[in-house]
Amino acid sequence: MTGRPEADRDIRRLLRPELEAMPGYEAIEPPDQLARRLGIPPERIVKLDGNENPFGPSPKALKALAEYRDYHIYPDPLQHHAREALSLFLDIPFDQIVFGTGSDEIMDLVLRAFLAPGDGVINCPPTFGMYPFLTRVAGARLIDVPRRGDFSLDLAAIRAVAGEAKVIFVTSPNNPTGTVISEADLGALLATGLVVVVDEAYVEFAGSGTFAGRVAEGTNLIVLRTFSKWAGLAGLRVGYGIFPPSVAEVVLKIKQPYNLNVAAQAAMLASLADAELLQERVRMLVAEREELSRALAGVSYLEPLPSQANFILCRTDGIDAGKLQEQLRQRGIMVRRPDAAVLRDYLRISVGLPEHRRALIEALNEIGGSRGASR
Ligand SMILES: Cc1ncc(COP(=O)(O)O)c(C=O)c1O
Repeated sequence: MTGRPEADRDIRRLLRPELEAMPGYEAIEPPDQLARRLGIPPERIVKLDGNENPFGPSPKALKALAEYRDYHIYPDPLQHHAREALSLFLDIPFDQIVFGTGSDEIMDLVLRAFLAPGDGVINCPPTFGMYPFLTRVAGARLIDVPRRGDFSLDLAAIRAVAGEAKVIFVTSPNNPTGTVISEADLGALLATGLVVVVDEAYVEFAGSGTFAGRVAEGTNLIVLRTFSKWAGLAGLRVGYGIFPPSVAEVVLKIKQPYNLNVAAQAAMLASLADAELLQERVRMLVAEREELSRALAGVSYLEPLPSQANFILCRTDGIDAGKLQEQLRQRGIMVRRPDAAVLRDYLRISVGLPEHRRALIEALNEIGGSRGASR
């Protein structure tokens, strides 16, 4: 037998070297694994770490999934049904919409469409971790422009580096701070000439409204939205981008042909048909957010920040946020610790159902009580 020696056949040396050093995306722990570790049934877990919708999908979506028959047929690459239905629902032209396997995929497609290796992407931390992650995977250059102390965008600093970048990601409401960007901020961002990607994953929970209507041919604005949060379809992965039509055309061309799978499409169409119920649930979650905020403010060692989304960022005072997260986890309550260094003393708590709030507050009081006792 001839051929290369075994050591030369180790393909690891052919990997892109920068990927080995790259941090992975810090995904949340699956709740069934925590349940197994704690030796409790999975339904006892109070899951407040993923900003998911605690009501679940609409009943019509569940019925559509059960009744759908053509799971053996490939989906429509051009997503006609889904785009037509959404176009009617949002009153946005059909040719501006492209669906993705979650809006996460749309972020990746935007980067693929606009970036060559080494091009710059502006990220405004603390914010959603997918932007830096996907930028690094794309081989692009990440330019961090941290938010100011009040978590607003630092527009002067963005303008100062705009010449070195092609794309900027901003989030409204922002994850994890819950803050929105204003019309004036958006105007200033658009004036830089960058590709401005506004991620509106939580906009249905905000009083501020969407920028989707501002997208048109000739503009440098892209808006990302999702069915994960307001419609409770996070596990099915249904997100979309709203683009200038000529950009949508390119994104449609470069995406995986079957990225919106038939189950996702069936559930998404049924969700639109059940929008009234889903919107009522959103109103309940917004009311519950305010209840949760009041309850958290009553915990002596927590300071909740105002939020326009379905989660609340909370500052911890006199208690280590990491230890608090772990103490809650030991009680089967999952909350998220943001990875940004400036948020070392913060936890992000998703808005759940009233019974989740009660379990959380009981646990927080218990933890607070034992702190007092151990002093
Ligand atoms: C700001 C933001 N954008 C996008 C997403 C993901 O959306 P999707 O489930 O549509 O990929 C999340 C999920 O937490 C998010 O926080």
